[in-house]
Amino acid sequence: MCGIVGYVGPRDATPIILQGLQRLEYRGYDSAGIAIYSQGEIEIRRDAGKISHLFDLVSAAPLHGHLGIGHTRWATHGEPNARNAHPHLSSSGRVVLVHNGIVENYHTLHDELEAEGVHFQSETDTEVIVQLIERYLSSSNSLVTAVQKALSEIQGAHGIVVFSRDEPDKLIAARIGNAGGVVIGLGDGENFVASDLPAILEYTRRAVFLDPQKIAIITPASLQIQTLNGEIVNWKEQHVTWDPIAAEKGEYQHFMQKEIHEQVRSMTDTIAGRVNFSFGKISLPEIQLTPEFAQTIHKIFIVACGTAYHAGLVGKILIERIAHIPVEVDIASEFRYRDPIIEPNTVTIAISQSGETADTLAAMEEARKKGSTLWSIVNAIGSQAMRLADGFISMQCGPEIGVASTKAYTAPLVDLYLLAILLADLRNTLPTQMRYQLVNDLRRLPNLVGICLDRETEVQEIAHLFTDVSNCLYLGRGINMPTAYEGALKLKEISYIHAEAYPAGEMKHGPIALIDKNLPIIAIAPKDLWNEKMVSQIEQAKARGAKIISIANDGDERIKSLSDRVLWIPQTPWLLSPVTTIIPLQFLAYHIAHQRGLDIDQPRNLAKSVTVE
Ligand code: M6R
Repeated sequence: MCGIVGYVGPRDATPIILQGLQRLEYRGYDSAGIAIYSQGEIEIRRDAGKISHLFDLVSAAPLHGHLGIGHTRWATHGEPNARNAHPHLSSSGRVVLVHNGIVENYHTLHDELEAEGVHFQSETDTEVIVQLIERYLSSSNSLVTAVQKALSEIQGAHGIVVFSRDEPDKLIAARIGNAGGVVIGLGDGENFVASDLPAILEYTRRAVFLDPQKIAIITPASLQIQTLNGEIVNWKEQHVTWDPIAAEKGEYQHFMQKEIHEQVRSMTDTIAGRVNFSFGKISLPEIQLTPEFAQTIHKIFIVACGTAYHAGLVGKILIERIAHIPVEVDIASEFRYRDPIIEPNTVTIAISQSGETADTLAAMEEARKKGSTLWSIVNAIGSQAMRLADGFISMQCGPEIGVASTKAYTAPLVDLYLLAILLADLRNTLPTQMRYQLVNDLRRLPNLVGICLDRETEVQEIAHLFTDVSNCLYLGRGINMPTAYEGALKLKEISYIHAEAYPAGEMKHGPIALIDKNLPIIAIAPKDLWNEKMVSQIEQAKARGAKIISIANDGDERIKSLSDRVLWIPQTPWLLSPVTTIIPLQFLAYHIAHQRGLDIDQPRNLAKSVTVE
């Protein structure tokens, strides 16, 4: 959630850090700050509010120097204000620190330090770290040693960057546990550090991802990585190919709108290079799946959160139908504590756009502890979910900036479809003709998505129907039940309208009591195995006065006659239909929120990457 940027080198650090922070705005934050070493002193500007406000503070009282750190904070301890904003100084004023994470034993350490005479300046848990470093500096006189000692006392998962005015040639970065990613960007006579790659991509493509329990000592000309005990460890540089231009809004008003429109490209990229249409074959090399291993798999767990969890629900149907392997789908935060029974020959698949979601990483660890093979489907290359897994599938949709996930929902749907075909093929359970058919169905997918995107205006035109609406019900069945969940989540998170999703067949067991003329119902009713059932449920709702907005396939006159409005989508092979049915619902949430004048890309209380429990 918090963003971190640091710089050491010959250039003026201030603009590099401020622009880096700006690139991390998508993570969600409520205050921002910067610290620069200048003429023997550490100077800080920080406050609650947006980065544009931090720019104003810096232009009112300029900062210049060759060493600095910056931070965007998402409040956990202490309200968002200038005092609690990072960077935080130690009581002597010689050490300054930024932090991502939660100090779990904060109260104990705080009381201990206070008893020693430390006078705290903020209400944050972070300040205990910098005060601990100060405590150990008095005895060791070496910043690295003091950081190592301080970190060995704090519990929880953390990313930090720190510097001292007494050693102004270096930044020290550290990563403890699974939260708080830290990436070092290697330059020529200069180096960068950040919590996320987009912050530094403009300056370098050479990246070193810091592993947990490691400390990086970064000077303009060198990088050394150590364990918490001071043993030097080898590091490996990776070349990153993401284009920072891809992270710009371009012609669209919001990142969310742009990312919805990027789904033709992400579908094409997801299929490209993995599908051989001539031979009806799928290849997913990074998953490292052999026929021998595929044939031994007895069960698959899918663990994920939010939108990624909804993709997992579709994945269950795909894998069970195509590969005939039983699948359980778990919300990661539940899986990690429910003591799941994991028998031999189980695979656990984690789905995560960011690859840094704390609950998903913890669920992966739980599965690993119990002997499961781990795979992940991730968007962020180099992320932890990718690195923790034995094999991975990358989403191929480029950086997703909007907090409301869109293209990172449809990409894993196709990844899971490809995986299901591959599994079935390697297990020899898929008749050849059916395999060809399933593979061939992918050909038209980007085009079908394109047709849905071209109909944005039709969705925009009905957004006004929701002007006075405060509750909404989404109904779906079968493979499009998860579409209902995902559509409702999109509406909730960016328009703040209460939206509930229900399997339509479950209505008669209670929720039907809610129905009246004030409750719009969004019915997902493509022409599939469940179409007849949806028709009868729409009829029942209609009879009780509900306003019906249906998602239906072109030409479905029956659905049209029962609905107040229809959002039309092209007929799509049923196993791929969740890719097209969700698109009008993404647009619907977007245009309702836009009409309400809300902050679409950074909705209240939400962060793009949830790196704390
Ligand atoms: O990065 P992840 O895919 O692991 O994130 C999981 C959820 O936090 C995320 O999908 C969240 O639900 C989105 N805001 C939904 O739009």
